[in-house]
Amino acid sequence: MKRSVIDIVDLSAQELEELVATAEDIIANPDKYAHACDRKKLATLFFEPSTRTRMSFEAAMYELGGHVISVSSAMSSSAAKGESVADTAKTVSCYADIIAMRHPKEGAAYVAATNASVPVINAGDGGHCHPTQTLADLLTIWREKRRFDGLTIGLCGDLKFGRTVHSLINAMSRYPGNRFVLISPEELKVPSYVKRDVLKQHNVPYVQTTDLESAMPELDILYMTRVQRERFFNEEDYLRLKDSYILTPDKLKNAKQDLAILHPLPRVNEISVAIDDDPRACYFKQVLNGKFMRMALILKLLKEAGTL
Ligand code: NCD
Repeated sequence: MKRSVIDIVDLSAQELEELVATAEDIIANPDKYAHACDRKKLATLFFEPSTRTRMSFEAAMYELGGHVISVSSAMSSSAAKGESVADTAKTVSCYADIIAMRHPKEGAAYVAATNASVPVINAGDGGHCHPTQTLADLLTIWREKRRFDGLTIGLCGDLKFGRTVHSLINAMSRYPGNRFVLISPEELKVPSYVKRDVLKQHNVPYVQTTDLESAMPELDILYMTRVQRERFFNEEDYLRLKDSYILTPDKLKNAKQDLAILHPLPRVNEISVAIDDDPRACYFKQVLNGKFMRMALILKLLKEAGTL
């Protein structure tokens, strides 16, 4: 049966763990997967800028032996002529076995999924969610901590518009004993629908603060994020808020020795490059982990669709 992944909750906790196990197997035995998707095609439709997400989907499909066809900007596709997402999805279904789509509008991936005849993977829809970044985050957390429960997770920066944050909260709220420290400027707090429908719904403890340094000692994971300039209504607000948090080595003085520092990237100013060589910096490992999890997800969805 054709199945799409629009939100991280489209995958059960058990399925997330199975994807992690597949990714670990791919890492250990890459040759076993080198022809798994021979002659299958992935379409990447990216109507918003991307380096990692698009390239990791494409690298993932190549490493599975498949092919990639691609639209890398709205301006180079019929979207510029006014074609609807629904028509684009129907069209691309004629060429590809699976679609990964990024779009500036919340809900666009859902519209694509309901109109496509092949599985659609949401590669980020506006400020809403970004489930495959969460897959990258989960494999990173797993490889660093060997567990998904009993963790104190600090999320820092733009928690309002940061779609990766919303998806990660959703995923980690399903495991017992996790708590969140939500660190942001007043204007960029986690949206109330996420607090109501996810954190309160699952009785997950959380605190909101503006102060990164005083939260630091208790954190097992620190997830830094970029202030999402493209989602601001005016440039002055962005300029005022953009450097709210800059992680520098002195701010890690009181951090745990086994803290894991994550960032979905791109980084602008949020993490000083002086931290890159700290063994706690995991953000480039996270990039690589994203490719393995996308391989695992492509395989799963193509198998379920009966394409493999
Ligand atoms: C993130 C995104 O696009 O939401 N990037 C990514 O996919 N790794 C984060 C961001 O753009 O800040």
